[in-house]
Amino acid sequence: SVPDVSTMVDPGSGAVDRAIFTDRTVYDTEMRRIFARSWLFLAHRDQFHKPGDFFQTFMGEDPIIVTMDKQKRIRAYLNSCRHRGARVCRADEGQAKAFTCTYHGWSFGLDGSLISVPNSGGYPETFQREDWGLVEVPNVQEYHGLIFGNWDPDAMSLEEDLGDMRWYLDAMLDRDPEGTVVVGGVMKWVLHGNWKLAAEQFATDWYHVNMSHASALQVLSPTGQGPKKEIAERTGRQFHNDHGHAHGFPVHPKNRFDAKTVHQWYDYDALRERLGDSRVEGPLTNGHGTVFPNFSYLPINGSIRVWHPKGPDRMEVWAWTILDRSMPEEVREAQRLYNLRTFGPSGIFEQDDGENWSECQAIAHGFMTNTTPLNYQMGIGSDREEPGYPGTTSELLSDSAGRAFYRRWAELMRTPAWHEQA
Ligand code: FES
Repeated sequence: SVPDVSTMVDPGSGAVDRAIFTDRTVYDTEMRRIFARSWLFLAHRDQFHKPGDFFQTFMGEDPIIVTMDKQKRIRAYLNSCRHRGARVCRADEGQAKAFTCTYHGWSFGLDGSLISVPNSGGYPETFQREDWGLVEVPNVQEYHGLIFGNWDPDAMSLEEDLGDMRWYLDAMLDRDPEGTVVVGGVMKWVLHGNWKLAAEQFATDWYHVNMSHASALQVLSPTGQGPKKEIAERTGRQFHNDHGHAHGFPVHPKNRFDAKTVHQWYDYDALRERLGDSRVEGPLTNGHGTVFPNFSYLPINGSIRVWHPKGPDRMEVWAWTILDRSMPEEVREAQRLYNLRTFGPSGIFEQDDGENWSECQAIAHGFMTNTTPLNYQMGIGSDREEPGYPGTTSELLSDSAGRAFYRRWAELMRTPAWHEQA
């Protein structure tokens, strides 16, 4: 059955039903109507250099192998054997000539085809290997090194789906004409909390920063007296578009206290020339954003992450550190350490956020808590079009992008997906 989401999310009034974070039917519908037809982040291009390089991830709860085939094309397959359904790849990442199922030994090539079947003489003549290859994700596209997949065979292109969001994403991905590279491994951790709590925060929530991160801001302050007034009272903007993508960013404060080595290395004049003043003073150096539904990023930290749904109450966070390819080694190391210190699994900001999401989730199943609506009204009616900033913007402290996130969520939840068409 499909839940009536029209009564659960009302972006017009800013009220959200807390059951969207706890209800199993809502969650199952998200798998079918959001994760089975949205562009989902799979991996970074720098994780694949030669045929057979692979990385295992998830689209929703479906296990996926992302690999480079012999023609050096990046392809993605459902990591489930066509025989009895076991995974054909158990490693997180690596190099393979083929993927061989450890249950009975069916083996699949880098193009997904079934290449070997033990005791194949036992099958009837009607058994054709070409009918039993791995299920392939029909749409895999790349945007400035980020690889996304989409199960909808007729999905609009990734670039079209991102729309105005590209201008904001480019502030991180196109900062260096050489592009970005991955440093270190993929950091993974489990959080008690619904995936949307994290995705919406990265899309819209700057309101929490001074309160939730007060001690972290104090620690990072060069004077030990806490952040300067211009940082504590920073202004900025948040952007959203009608596909639910969003990015919020303060304007660049004069006295930064983060990743100094990195800031000293940047040639800001060249960046202003290349990407324009408004990006350098905003999304290039600051902020965070979400590509709907569950990919988020922090440009200045070089953190990109996926909030993998694991049931209504649990998510797995997978986080990469990406850097400008041209960065010299010592700057890379400073950036890597800065990201670890702030938004690694035990990072001083990451800990605050995870604690908040788990706190909200832990009490959400009470009858009264679950039936009392939540407030997303800040900045209602203040959306605007601004010269120099593509898409719709609002004040930095606003729930505007959150309302856009849930507007898109509700739109997809109530619309049959490609696999439901007659
Ligand atoms: Fe894979 Fe049987 S489940 S070979």
